[in-house]
Amino acid sequence: MAAATAIAKYGICCRRSFSSLKFHLNFNQFHKSFTPSLSLTPQFFHHSISTLQQKPSSHSKKKKRNKTENQNPKNVIAKTLAEESRLKRRTRSEKKFDQDVIRQYGDDVNHVPVMLGEVLDVFSAVNLRSFVDCTVGAAGHSVAIIQAHPEMQLYVGLDVDPIAHEKAQVRINSFLHGESCHRTYDLKMYTLLKNFKDFRSVLEEVDERSLTPGVNGILMDLGMSSMQVNNAERGFSVLADGPLDMRMDPKASLKAEDILNFWPDTEVGRILRDYGEESNWYNLQNKIVKARASGGLHSTVELVDLIRKSAPSTRGGRHGWIKTATRVFQALRIAVNDELNTLKTSLYSCFDCLSPGGRLAVISFHSLEDRIVKQTFLDIIGEKSEDEVSTDKMQCRLESLNSSEGAWVKQIIPGQNGKILTKRPITPSQEEEKLNRRCRSAKLRVIQKV
Ligand SMILES: C[S@@+](CC[C@H](N)C(=O)[O-])C[C@H]1O[C@@H](n2cnc3c(N)ncnc32)[C@H](O)[C@@H]1O
Repeated sequence: MAAATAIAKYGICCRRSFSSLKFHLNFNQFHKSFTPSLSLTPQFFHHSISTLQQKPSSHSKKKKRNKTENQNPKNVIAKTLAEESRLKRRTRSEKKFDQDVIRQYGDDVNHVPVMLGEVLDVFSAVNLRSFVDCTVGAAGHSVAIIQAHPEMQLYVGLDVDPIAHEKAQVRINSFLHGESCHRTYDLKMYTLLKNFKDFRSVLEEVDERSLTPGVNGILMDLGMSSMQVNNAERGFSVLADGPLDMRMDPKASLKAEDILNFWPDTEVGRILRDYGEESNWYNLQNKIVKARASGGLHSTVELVDLIRKSAPSTRGGRHGWIKTATRVFQALRIAVNDELNTLKTSLYSCFDCLSPGGRLAVISFHSLEDRIVKQTFLDIIGEKSEDEVSTDKMQCRLESLNSSEGAWVKQIIPGQNGKILTKRPITPSQEEEKLNRRCRSAKLRVIQKV
């Protein structure tokens, strides 16, 4: 209530200040063109009011100059934009990074579950009777979530990689039968060697009844596991010599070398351009196709060598070609595993299978994935009428400001079918990034069904 009064009060203050500046921009346009958080966060109130209502001092020239600067609409906009960009950067998680907990759930020195504390926070407010980990990997997130939710009755863990699947099964079983497990309910536990694109049919097979209320929580931690990157034989690493494979599912038929040696040149170019966002794609496409005349490319070292030799000398030496190689490897991996299409369709089916109030959390590792998650979430929640939107937005902003769920709930976007709990994605804390460089591109987005 106090916050609502403050909003009303400060909202009016902002309007008055702008009109007194004869600022030829309609307030509503202004309001729309900046992020809603700006008009609602206490910091913004403080900033706006002190910026817009500064009293002139008759004695100090300096203060007069400041006053003139502060009244200049250009300066007001510049300051507001600077404030906005400062707030935008604050999507970095402020959660304390607990190394001991991470070590407990990490598999060994090579594997650390990314943003574990933040993921636990996502599900802490949910009565998690059923949970599906779509990318179980080494089960780091899964074991921590099972342990945090003794009410859980159904757990399903999926992975397309047989090594990950086996490892996860052993880890979860040993946790469930170990001393640290204090469960109040019996847990039906399934780890399955399945692609998450078959989400619905897998759930139907495992426990059809779970689909009626829906599952309470779903996690997707996309990309490769350390086990995959560190195994040269899988062909994922730019820095190790191995076959040009890159299949997450070793039974799948398409390998990276098939694309490089047999696909039409325009398709090779499209993959490098669209999935790798590589500006030198055309040159690389030509070199790759030319290499076919002398037997083609069959190892990661051959491909990296070709990339190194094609890198323009102006592009940052070793760092330049390693960055290009990383982009090319990403592009091939996305194509081999059809990652973007799989992600998009699976987000819809996962959301479909959620219970009311259930949450889907997705950690992505590059901008293409993150864009898909962001846009699909917006599409999923559905549009509301303008009136509903403004009332709901106000309500949701108050909710996120007063949320007891922790700093990760920054701003909520309401919709007809659900709400997005992370208007901007949450990124790892500085501390986590320092200790685990691989997490630095991670972005966490969360959606909740109504
Ligand atoms: C980053 S790891 C997950 C790590 C895991 N969260 C942990 O804490 O150990 C991603 C895993 O997802 C798996 N994966 C990737 N795409 C998949 C898909 N479409 N279906 C099922 N599993 C997939 C990979 O094989 C890999 O083991």
